[in-house]
Amino acid sequence: MTSIHNRIRELARRRNAIILAHNYQPPEIQDVADFRGDSLELSRKAAATNAEVIVFCGVYFMAETAAILSPSKQVLIPEPQAGCAMVTMAPIEAIREFKAKHPGAIVVTYVNSSAAVKAESDICCTSDNATKVVAELPADAKILFVPDRNLGHHVQQVTGREMILFPGCCPIHDQLTPGMIRAARKAHPGAPLMIHPESPPATTALADAVLSTSGMLRYVRDSAAQEFIVATEVGMLHRLGTENPGKTFHPVSGKLVCPDMKCITLEKVLHSLESMTHVVSVPEPMRLAALRAVERMVQTR
Ligand code: 13P
Ligand code: SF4
Repeated sequence: MTSIHNRIRELARRRNAIILAHNYQPPEIQDVADFRGDSLELSRKAAATNAEVIVFCGVYFMAETAAILSPSKQVLIPEPQAGCAMVTMAPIEAIREFKAKHPGAIVVTYVNSSAAVKAESDICCTSDNATKVVAELPADAKILFVPDRNLGHHVQQVTGREMILFPGCCPIHDQLTPGMIRAARKAHPGAPLMIHPESPPATTALADAVLSTSGMLRYVRDSAAQEFIVATEVGMLHRLGTENPGKTFHPVSGKLVCPDMKCITLEKVLHSLESMTHVVSVPEPMRLAALRAVERMVQTR
């Protein structure tokens, strides 16, 4: 291990800090973390930890969700500019306008959203439990799904529930095309293809399994196959590789790189712990309003 890795670990111990890393983080960040996971697992870990400080290596909405769930802990993000293009596509004004057009509807909000949007939602979900969250809503409910139209489309397909979809997306996954899927299958015949539900419907229709990042880990663990095609952000390859040493993983495309996920570095994590920055907090009235929807998300298994 590098000396900076060791300095981070030592300082985390002294500060009583837990380092959480999303599955898309660079390999060296995943390796220095106490815990890596998908959005749902990281939210649950943030809510349950006894640590006094949470260093969140991911994008801003993830750290903000930890701050909503854990007001007594100090939540730090090593790079406050690490945003999410999908969150930017759904400003609170646009969501209020969308709600106003459909009065009386239940608002289901993907965790990839701002705290302000969560505060105006009935229930949140992640890509891992979105179908469960929607399937459990009353049968006659009118449902608005925000902000990811691709995940919303997938949920409609699985649950058979009709929903009104806000037109946001993840520009990284939205680049995927059926041609890219077919080319990967031709290059690796017989390898099961796993895809993230933020991908366009024309591509998810060609996959063997549509899964959150933690769903992909479970799928690989339970499969007898030795090779897999992975259609999501490339950071996932490190987690899959380290946990499944005998198996081979092929990215569907090297182009699926989220620049926001990649702007956390070891130097920034060290600086974060040294200076106790950058603190992520949510104004109390907004936090309380968002908490209800986020707690329902964390509780849906
Ligand atoms: P997961 O919750 O599946 O890890 O996805 C988070 C995300 O931002 C996908 O782009
Ligand atoms: Fe947002 Fe897409 Fe990056 Fe995930 S991969 S953090 S949805 S921009």
